[in-house]
Amino acid sequence: MRVPQPIPYQGSKRKIAQEILRFFPPSTSRIVEPFAGSAAISIAAAMGKRATNFWINDAHQPLITLWKEIIERPHLISERYGSVWEAQLGKERDYFNEIRCRFNESADPADFLYLLARCVKAGVRFNSKGEFNNSPDNRRKGARPEEMSWRIFTVSKLLKQRALLSSHDYKKVLRACTNEDLVYMDPPYQGVCGTKDNRYVGRFDHDEFCSSLDELVRRNVMFAVSYDGRTGSKFHGVRLPKTLDLTRVEICAGRSTQATLLGRSQTTFESLYISPSLLSYCEQTRCAVASSRELNPMENHKDLFCSIQT
Ligand SMILES: C[S@@+](CC[C@H](N)C(=O)[O-])C[C@H]1O[C@@H](n2cnc3c(N)ncnc32)[C@H](O)[C@@H]1O
Repeated sequence: MRVPQPIPYQGSKRKIAQEILRFFPPSTSRIVEPFAGSAAISIAAAMGKRATNFWINDAHQPLITLWKEIIERPHLISERYGSVWEAQLGKERDYFNEIRCRFNESADPADFLYLLARCVKAGVRFNSKGEFNNSPDNRRKGARPEEMSWRIFTVSKLLKQRALLSSHDYKKVLRACTNEDLVYMDPPYQGVCGTKDNRYVGRFDHDEFCSSLDELVRRNVMFAVSYDGRTGSKFHGVRLPKTLDLTRVEICAGRSTQATLLGRSQTTFESLYISPSLLSYCEQTRCAVASSRELNPMENHKDLFCSIQT
């Protein structure tokens, strides 16, 4: 099954979306992504008919404006992306800088889509003035207009009239979630958090996030969080505290390209933390957590190893 991904995005969970979905109930009334980015989990869930409705939220307003165009006006954004893309031919390098200046003045969604399709590692980066400042990847022209149109139209069809779009701080979204929802959270990578973080417009603080999770646990809201990880035996980021009573599973995210470049063969694993109410739902429906729990001797630590290979 080919899953469309209209918004190229660094840190997208596109490649491991199916593995994450293994820990979700077979069907849910609403999937909420407070840190949506390219909304890889919502798209994969919509493709697999795993939820009826979706809430796509991200603190970055231009990203949500782009989402609105993709879902509600696919003809217009496809056409406009096509025009911006075609106009680059023969002058790709200078043209990227021109569009970047134009985007920083007008925040036009078609310009933003083109910048994401052409910039280094599809990374959203800002300077101290809050302007998008990533550079072009001069080996790529960005997805061709026909391919982009297919992605846009397919996603629009999947999410039209089923997705609520907003640009709030994640805490506001979490306060509005109920135990009818399933919340998937993929906050900014901890290595780039803090006051100097220029990759994201939203503010993110580890302790504040833990308090929000604690509150969700007390309200019995089902959730899963992608947080830390490891490459071989080297850990990245801070683990979520055991006091939250979450179950941690590891998902294999594939070979580390950096280790491969250095001549080592190492695999990267990403942690997925599962809330107590999601765990008990999974146990009742015997989805992935239940079977890895049976296989795993570390059950008492709430620290399960999941040997999923992507
Ligand atoms: C790691 S990315 C999510 C990637 C996403 N899972 C995907 O598949 O593309 C984290 C996202 O959180 C957003 N963000 C950062 N701080 C936020 C906040 N305080 N509230 C809401 N969103 C925030 C960023 O703009 C960014 O898009």
